[in-house]
Amino acid sequence: MAEFVEIIEVGPRDGLQNEVGIFDTSDKIRMIDALSVCGFRRIEVASFVHPRRVPQMADGEDVLMGITKKPNVRYAALTPNQRGLQRAISSGVDEVAVFASASEGFSMANINRTVAVSLRAFRELVREANKARLPVRGYVSCAVSCPYDGPTSPDRVTAVAAELMGMGCYEVSLGDTLGKGRPVDVHRMLDRVLAEIPAAKVAGHFHDTGGYALANIEASLEKGIRAFDSSVGGLGGCPFAPGAAGNVATEDMNRRLLELGFQTGIDSGLLERARHIVADILRKSAREIDSHT
Ligand code: HMG
Ligand code: MG
Repeated sequence: MAEFVEIIEVGPRDGLQNEVGIFDTSDKIRMIDALSVCGFRRIEVASFVHPRRVPQMADGEDVLMGITKKPNVRYAALTPNQRGLQRAISSGVDEVAVFASASEGFSMANINRTVAVSLRAFRELVREANKARLPVRGYVSCAVSCPYDGPTSPDRVTAVAAELMGMGCYEVSLGDTLGKGRPVDVHRMLDRVLAEIPAAKVAGHFHDTGGYALANIEASLEKGIRAFDSSVGGLGGCPFAPGAAGNVATEDMNRRLLELGFQTGIDSGLLERARHIVADILRKSAREIDSHT
């Protein structure tokens, strides 16, 4: 039997947060409902951050309450602080994610906190979330390089990842936020991280600015990683990481994993349908932007 690799769909959050046009809530719901039937076990659908910092994510409550939840799917949201956690809980989220950075420059630009201050606050947040019986995922951004500070040391990535695991995150997702990493960088980083954290607790999150995301995923597979984030249609990016492109496209990663002999549980036909729906929504948003210029 082929080995299973989990694809975590993050398009409705990471994919949309960087789009210029504000999507209608009903379109986001249409996108998530189409993704819900594809076979994903986890879909990241919202982000309870400051609405002025990321206007695209301002309607997280309405999105979570409007979608048709499938019983085998966990619907997740980013929560930067207690305020975000309370918003997520009252919207009926299934799991939350905290997001730390391995570099100081991105941490300040992204969440207005040093890495150490953010980790102290996340410890309390994870405790609260666990009390509410919510699993918490931990992101480590800039796991390869930082748009502000340059290359990141694997020791820093390991230290932040270990701290997130120690405070109760069930998994860490290592983000090549800038998307310029190459397999040699990923090997070096994972050699260090996996000396401290088992591969089963680690996921990869590759943006594809440099065109190496699939190669980086293969490098991670060689090291034993079996969970990867991606965005349908290759949407995505972070408004606070200038120059970063979208996540690896879910359909490309799914195809490559199947070619490599893994099983993913994703229905390629339904994924293609979801991709078409997203393309349709993007066209609509582009038309709206055009009509205002
Ligand atoms: P802050 O300004 O330091 O927060 O922002 P504060 O605690 O000082 O509060 C200031 C104001 O914000 C207050 O309102 C709060 O109520 C409000 P005011 O009194 O001025 O009216 N506020 C909130 N409102 C709604 N929801 C909240 C919330 N928190 C405070 N949760 C904060 C700190 C983190 C909130 C802010 O910097 C922020 O929202 N940053 C956005 C970060 C973000 O969304 N980044 C993109 C996602 S991360 C990513 O993409 C990387 C990832 O994909 C992995 C990878 O690729 O590497 C995950
Ligand atoms: Mg990202």
